[in-house]
Amino acid sequence: MQLDKRQDLSIDGLKGRVLELAKRRGFLWPSYEIYGGVAGLWDYGPFGAMLKHRVESAWRDIFVVGESALPIETPTIGVEEVFLASGHLSNFVDLIVECVNCQTALRADHVVTEYLKSRGIAADLCDPDIADACVPSSEKTQELIDSYGIMCPDCGGPLGKVHDFNLMFTTHIGPGTQRNGYLRPETAQGIFADFPRLLRFYRDRLPFGVAQIGKSYRNEISPRQGVIRLREFTQAEVEVFVDPREKNHHPRFDEVADVEINILSKDFAGTASVKAACERNIIAHEYLAYHIARCQEFFTRVGVRESRLRFRQHLPDEMAHYAVDCWDAEGLTQHGWIELAGIADRTDYDLKQHERQSGLQMAVLVPYEEPKEVERIVVRPNMGYLGPKYKGKAKQVAAFLSTIHDTEGPIVFDGDVVDPEGYAIETVRQSISGDFVTPHVIEPSFGIDRSIYTVLEHAYDEDTIDGERRIVLRLSPDIAPIEVAVFPLVKALNEKALEVFRLLRRAGLLVEYDDSGTIGRRYRRQDEIGTPFAVTIDHETTENSTVTIRDRDTTKQVRSSIESLADVLRGMLVHGFDRTSS
Ligand code: GAP
Repeated sequence: MQLDKRQDLSIDGLKGRVLELAKRRGFLWPSYEIYGGVAGLWDYGPFGAMLKHRVESAWRDIFVVGESALPIETPTIGVEEVFLASGHLSNFVDLIVECVNCQTALRADHVVTEYLKSRGIAADLCDPDIADACVPSSEKTQELIDSYGIMCPDCGGPLGKVHDFNLMFTTHIGPGTQRNGYLRPETAQGIFADFPRLLRFYRDRLPFGVAQIGKSYRNEISPRQGVIRLREFTQAEVEVFVDPREKNHHPRFDEVADVEINILSKDFAGTASVKAACERNIIAHEYLAYHIARCQEFFTRVGVRESRLRFRQHLPDEMAHYAVDCWDAEGLTQHGWIELAGIADRTDYDLKQHERQSGLQMAVLVPYEEPKEVERIVVRPNMGYLGPKYKGKAKQVAAFLSTIHDTEGPIVFDGDVVDPEGYAIETVRQSISGDFVTPHVIEPSFGIDRSIYTVLEHAYDEDTIDGERRIVLRLSPDIAPIEVAVFPLVKALNEKALEVFRLLRRAGLLVEYDDSGTIGRRYRRQDEIGTPFAVTIDHETTENSTVTIRDRDTTKQVRSSIESLADVLRGMLVHGFDRTSS
């Protein structure tokens, strides 16, 4: 066989083909298809589920094993208090507008942006008065709909009023409606809610990281981009708790200092090492830069092409309400640059919010080398006043007051000033053994599904072999759902081929046996699911116990003895076909 021509597919050339292949070959299927399907819900078919499992394993290798960030698993249903504290109940909204005629619910800002884009009109939807996040304002969006007379893109009917829509799915915990529950929109909150126990687990020492892989849910208004915007998706997150004074000293920074990344920030566009990016203040500190480098290691290991991967810094008005510096790892796909992961400095926002909401202290005592004698301000709660005033919440307020050690300005709890009668401020002389510090959180947060889709796109290729067009998924052997396919050349060799298949399976390889159709069709099928190597049992096998190994990418073949086959294939899976076979 001759590899005649490799076509370099343009991004546009890929439109639709990757998803078609993914559906046809059992990677991705629309969920509940027999009932018409639901936008934003997708199944992983058998090869997709295997691929996902392997991508998650690669992530665990780097972020759990490599970082000693032990994983935890918390419920996907969260209680109201968690999302009151995190701000999701009030802030986690998108703008919605319904068509008066066909009742379709639409993302209002998307309708406006697409309308303006299609007519070449430039308009910024963000409200300059919203300081901490680029949430397009409903007023501005409404104004543009009205002034341009924008109609429903689906039926041409008039649009109703723009309003907020909270993206959390709601439920009730237990029968009746006593306790509201929400499907978590990020895995992170389960980790924050466990912080006091985690701190004890890590013996009160910073820094430590905690990982979680699991499902998150967002009731996206109108997910129309295939598998990019899902209503149920898998996140892989690490929350690294660090002393804020140490953010610029990552203990393992030297290991990644020279890693070059593609950067797009407000001040710089180009390639630079993470060390240079830190020194030039492009990236705020070493902890962020370290995790950006590890993020690139993960993506390139699973097959995102480095030339189509970039790290884009959020603009100040785009940042989530909790973050001070945030970078998106973006992959270039047929949908444009899409966010695959976010690497954020969430500061002490979450822990402080949960401290407030739960009344439990979330600070860590960072010890001095020697205890110090100091004068200290303490706030002593006056329960005689707080009890009648705050009733059931009094203990929470008292616990909060006890965490305060400065008295600048009024003391505010839950948005309200605490009456000065509720506490006494004293200055005491104390021997203190350390500082109480509320850790800051550095968070690399990955969308596994978007990563998988991007990997499929970047692996997708078409070439021509002996004049015949071939589709090939050039998946990394680290994540391919099948590592080796085993074929008998003719029916009479089925038994021998099954023997080889069982031998390789016992050796721990991911093997598939296939004796259906012509050998050419079997190769094509394996090429399309990304199997790196195919082993064929032919007439020579019965004479000298050797088989052929065919390389997916080049279609080159070599012979190997059955005896050493498992070792040879293992070597090829790690080092590549040529380095092992030559
Ligand atoms: N804990 C931080 C957090 O959740 P995010 O940027 O909202 O941050 C992290 O989400 C990642 O989750 C994103 O980079 C993206 O890959 C993925 N993600 C977010 N929303 C998604 C959706 N609707 N469908 C698929 N993936 C999504």
